[in-house]
Amino acid sequence: MQLNQNEAKKLAGRRAIEEFVRNGMRLGLGSGTTSHFFVRELAKHIADGLDVTCTATSRSTIDVAREVGIPIMDPNEIGQLDLTIDGPDEIDRDFQMIKGGGACLLWEKIIAHASTQMITICDESKIVDRLGAFPLPVEVVQFAWKQTERMIARLLQGQGVEARIVRRTRDERPVVTDSGNFILDCHCQSIANAPLLETELNRIPGVVENGLFTREAAGMVVGCFDGTSHVRL
Ligand code: 5RP
Repeated sequence: MQLNQNEAKKLAGRRAIEEFVRNGMRLGLGSGTTSHFFVRELAKHIADGLDVTCTATSRSTIDVAREVGIPIMDPNEIGQLDLTIDGPDEIDRDFQMIKGGGACLLWEKIIAHASTQMITICDESKIVDRLGAFPLPVEVVQFAWKQTERMIARLLQGQGVEARIVRRTRDERPVVTDSGNFILDCHCQSIANAPLLETELNRIPGVVENGLFTREAAGMVVGCFDGTSHVRL
């Protein structure tokens, strides 16, 4: 059996439900296409009697959940979450990730940290030996964003990374996140010390959060193109 990328993403989501989702859980729903496939699959289980309470990591995920009839609770009201399921843009073998390809990294990180466990779902193309080929998104406040950009460039240079930094645009307009901030994509190629870079970026005034998730995921569920799926913990 040969699966395409979307089929492999769906497979990972289905396996994650089997392995990790249990009655009575409070769930964080991730963002991006893989997570949205997961949400659609979860809706079928809920229709069959699965009893879970959910909150979401982006307005786009809220929209998908509404479309398939999953009620979304205010994150302020739901309390400690049992499990968040979310997808990466890149993930290494220590479950360190780059996220934020959909510009949802801030809400994703907040919800991951509010969860007892985070499990990543992905197709096998997301697994890398070293993070950095995927541009690292950094969420910055709009005020003086070019000053913040210079500080980021200086930090990256100090860590030996000659990055090209671009403000993310769509249809020639700046992308604005669900929290009203800009996204700067840092084309680093290769990140030697992801935990250090994650911490240092967040020390720059103007940086709200960055897309390095080095401590969140406890494991991953991978959908492979040959039709198999794997759980790694
Ligand atoms: C959004 C994200 C997504 O989870 C990440 O971009 C993966 O997306 P996809 O499942 O579409 O490949 O971090 O901010």
